Amino acid sequence: MFYGRDDQLEALMALWNKRVPSLVTCRGRRRIGKSTLVAEFARRTSSRFIKIEGLRPKEKLSNADELASFARQLARQTGGDDTPPTDWDRAFARLDEKIGTGKTVVLLDEISWMGHYDAAFPETFKVAWDNLFKRHQRLVMILCGSVSSWIRENIVDNGAFAGRRSLDIVVRELPLRVCARFWGAAAERTDVREIIDILSVTGGVPRYLEEIDPALSAAENIRRMAFLPNGILATDFEDIFRDAFDRSPGIRADILRALSGGPKNVAGVAAALGRAKSGHISAALETLEEAGFVSADEGVNPETGTPVQQKRYRLSDNYARFYLRYIEPALKMIGKGAYAFASLDQLEGWDSVMGLAFENLVVNNFRELLPRLGLDRSLLLSAAPFRRKNLQVDLLLQTSLSLCLVEVKRRKEIGREVVTDMAEKIGKIGKRPGRSLKTALVYCGSLHPSIEAEGYFDALIDIRSLLV
Ligand SMILES: Nc1ncnc2c1ncn2[C@@H]1O[C@H](COP(=O)(O)OP(=O)(O)O)[C@@H](O)[C@H]1O
Ligand SMILES: [Mg+2]
Repeated sequence: MFYGRDDQLEALMALWNKRVPSLVTCRGRRRIGKSTLVAEFARRTSSRFIKIEGLRPKEKLSNADELASFARQLARQTGGDDTPPTDWDRAFARLDEKIGTGKTVVLLDEISWMGHYDAAFPETFKVAWDNLFKRHQRLVMILCGSVSSWIRENIVDNGAFAGRRSLDIVVRELPLRVCARFWGAAAERTDVREIIDILSVTGGVPRYLEEIDPALSAAENIRRMAFLPNGILATDFEDIFRDAFDRSPGIRADILRALSGGPKNVAGVAAALGRAKSGHISAALETLEEAGFVSADEGVNPETGTPVQQKRYRLSDNYARFYLRYIEPALKMIGKGAYAFASLDQLEGWDSVMGLAFENLVVNNFRELLPRLGLDRSLLLSAAPFRRKNLQVDLLLQTSLSLCLVEVKRRKEIGREVVTDMAEKIGKIGKRPGRSLKTALVYCGSLHPSIEAEGYFDALIDIRSLLV
């Protein structure tokens, strides 16, 4: 089954209205559904589909292996010569011969792997595009990869491709509503809390969502995915970090570890790693941000009205947060099949970790909140948690005319103190001419009746309403 991604599919489909071929880049974290999206696009538009994927680089492989694999995959799908070409010029020429006049989607997948051993690969591709591929009017060529930084450096920001690209798709986590569809008909019968707890661990990553067994409890699902030796969540972190970042994977995993304790600026990250603040760390943070693991929060300080001084980075991938907190420390036990686990509540600090994971889930889904807050037509200046010594806001939405403070709560019983807490925050920010202050509560649990009766919050959003 294929769920969601309507906007991206629409953007891709619109390319068929043009009378010129299209060159598309598609990037995003591994397992997020890039390859599947492209295949679905080809299927829905009944196009011919040619897919060639780079081999994951490893020791003892070389450019010749990439070329040989390219030729084999092409021959398997289109017939003809499967002998290895000697260089990428010839490989692309061979592909070109197989593209006819009908609607064709060509996917060059994990392209950074394909071009890994040949520094001239991007330029060779560009020449092939200009001289060969561009002649096919009914062609959509999609360059796809998990190493987002490679695609940006070599294609998106490469002047050689200026004016050539038609579309750049960044594939992100599926929104909550779409995630719930992985429960199928069981979604209605399942307690919201169970769904939210699983999503707090997986995030909206389809590869993890498809492993969910809706007939089982959240605890049992999480046990199977995370705490058994070959569980997808027990093994995937290592796998991602071996793949997605071609240079110095170690520092990136360490940065995520540093951020798992809370958001930090570059200097804070450097200090946590016991290193001097350096361009190296900033670059690694940027790569993590592009790959979708980390978010950089900017915006305006609501108390002073001035832009915040320094970007703060936050670990925004729910799976990575859970992995670093619970799975990594127990890997040895898990590997031996000896990790005993009776219920989720037995995990140390579970409730507070899940509270934070829920906040993160809501922040990642802030777009879904906007219509409920009357902000769907406003230009947002920022949407991020705001945390300074004297003011902590779970999610702060800023437009030029308004500030909306969103409190996010996951608790069985939510009491009246949420109102006093919020009133205190509003008091700290204070009124300012030309700017209105709004408040909202997003919750998972049951609200004390006085909260609704009092009408303090401008919006009360039950997380359940974002799942259906
Ligand atoms: N929109 C979707 N709906 C349902 N399942 C999906 C969707 N996107 C991806 N998947 C599933 O998730 C898994 C990972 O997707 P994939 O396209 O391989 O990710 P990527 O190419 O980004 O690494 C696949 O097994 C696929 O079946
Ligand atoms: Mg893929």
